[in-house]
Order: sequence, then C-alpha cells, then structure tokens
Amino acid sequence: MNFAIEAKNLLKNFGDFRAVDGISFNVRRGETFAILGENGAGKSTTMRMIACRSPLSDGELFVEGFNIKKDEREIRSIIGIVPQENNLDPDLNVRENLLVYSRYFRLEQEFAIRRTEELLDFIRLAKKADAKVDALSGGMKRRLIIARALLHKPKILLLDEPTTGLDPNVRQEIWEKLEELRRAENLTIVLSTHYMDEAEKLCQRLLVMAHGKIIADGIPRDLIYEKVKRYALEVREADALPLQKTNANFIAVKRGTAHLYFAENADQLTLLMQNYGSRPMLLRPSNLEDVFLRLLDTQVF
Ligand SMILES: Nc1ncnc2c1ncn2[C@@H]1O[C@H](COP(=O)(O)OP(=O)(O)OP(=O)(O)O)[C@@H](O)[C@H]1O
Ligand SMILES: [Mg+2]
Repeated sequence: MNFAIEAKNLLKNFGDFRAVDGISFNVRRGETFAILGENGAGKSTTMRMIACRSPLSDGELFVEGFNIKKDEREIRSIIGIVPQENNLDPDLNVRENLLVYSRYFRLEQEFAIRRTEELLDFIRLAKKADAKVDALSGGMKRRLIIARALLHKPKILLLDEPTTGLDPNVRQEIWEKLEELRRAENLTIVLSTHYMDEAEKLCQRLLVMAHGKIIADGIPRDLIYEKVKRYALEVREADALPLQKTNANFIAVKRGTAHLYFAENADQLTLLMQNYGSRPMLLRPSNLEDVFLRLLDTQVF
C-alpha cells in the first residue's frame, strides 16, 4: 500500500444536487496535499467524506488501506480533523477542551493529561490553559483546534481552511507548526484553502475543484509551467487600451481593469510593455493564483 488516501470516483449527492462528481485522486504518505476551489466547489464535502463525517453516495475510498465502507472505526482513530468552523466548547476552558475531547478517542486518562500539556506547549497556549475559549483570539482558537485534532496522534491531519480570517503573522506561525509536524512525525496533511500562497508554500501536490469535479492536479511548479507559462506581466488601469492578441509567444488575458500576459520568455513581456506608456506595470514570475484564475477563466460548465 503506497498511499495514505486513495479516492476512486468519489460521488456525493444531496438530494438531486451533486456536490462531488466522481473524483479520483491519491494522497501520498507524509506529504501535504491541498484542495483548492471556489466557494461551493466541493472541498469540505470531500474532506468530510474522508473523515467519515459524511457517507459516500458512490465510489471507493481507502484511508491507510482501510475501506471507508467497512472500517470506519479504524479510520476515525488515525485521522485528526480541523473543521472549517471553530467548534470549541465555550463553556470549557482551553485545557478542558482538549481533555474532554480526548474521551471521544477513549484515550487512557494518564496519556490524555500528558498529551494535553505537550500539545498546549506545542501550540504555545500553556499560559492560557485556564482561560475560557471566548477569551482567545481567532488565531489562538485555530491553534487550539489543531491541537485537539492531534490528541490521539493521528497519521493523517485534515484541515479545512486552517488559516481563513487570520492575520499574516498567525498564518505564518500555523504554517510553521504544520510543516514541523509533517517533518518530525511524517504526518500526512490534507488541507483546503482559498489562499494560493498557503498552497504554494505548504503543499507538495494539489488538486483544483470546480462544481464537484477536478479541473487540474499536480505539483504547483508544474501547473504553473503548464497552465500559465513562467513569467507574468501585469498592467493595471489598462481597460482603455486594446488587449494584445494571444499568439505563439504569449497568452493575453483581461482581468477587471488589468491586462495580464504570460510568456516562457521574459523578453517577450518586456516588448509588450512598450504598448502601455506610463501605466503601472509589474513583471514577475507566475504563481499559483495565476493558474487558479486562468483555470476558472477557461472552464466551461
Ligand atoms: N448538507 C448539505 N446539504 C445540501 N447541500 C450541501 C450540503 N453540504 C454542502 N452542500 C452543497 O454542496 C456544495 C459543495 O459544498 P462544500 O461545502 O463542499 O463547498 P466548499 O468547496 O467547501 O466551499 P467553501 O469554500 O465555501 O467552504 C455547495 O453547493 C453546498 O451548498
Ligand atoms: Mg468548505
């Protein structure tokens, strides 16, 4: 068995509505794997199926070799879940949130107490152990939920938008913790995100969903080279000027009032700059956000 997660033709219907439409993918052990997609693309639904929180309508799903249809208990014991919404218990303090949750995994009490203190240290909330959850900042709550998902030492950590709404420093801190866990404990991490920098920074591989389907997958760098070419020229406030036509040397795209050009060769883009006089311009390496937007531009549903 080579994969931490193997999904084959995964399907999820809610009544007549198909939220996940026959997707297949594999997640390798010890990698960080990102699921990208617009609101409603099916990211959370896919993660909830992997986490045994929502039964499949059809298809096959194996988690560490266990079959989701038969081995739900085994799968729950090796998966840690950070849901999209903060669902900490507001009546309990920080430490109690971990201790009470540990009963859900039937952890031995002595182990649970030790693990709780270890995790409070790890997420740097030991000093807040007696504080009520309401007194925590958004970033602290998110860190506490990550700690809660790690109580039973899972092999796979699923994080649904782990850093949405957090400030850049806190996001950076969470990224570092996740990377530390992956390296030190060979944890497999699956996360969904709307932040392209998050995916680019953290994941080894990713998939992009739209309307329940996979519209692209692979290694971020390869996707950038395949879908948008190596360099981008962004011209702002360009809407009054004509967009140059896509040709063998570059791709041309309108985005709001901006014009975007992608080329393998930066010199091609430098030439284009002459058409724009003193408009604000930026010549830069292409990034995952370009890939994402380009995929949505070119997708016909
Ligand atoms: N329990 C449910 N009952 C009916 N429809 C649902 C249910 N859960 C999700 N959906 C629908 O399935 C689709 C996919 O939802 P999902 O939550 O998986 O999207 P998402 O990619 O996580 O979006 P977001 O980025 O907004 O979190 C949406 O159209 C949503 O309305
Ligand atoms: Mg979601």
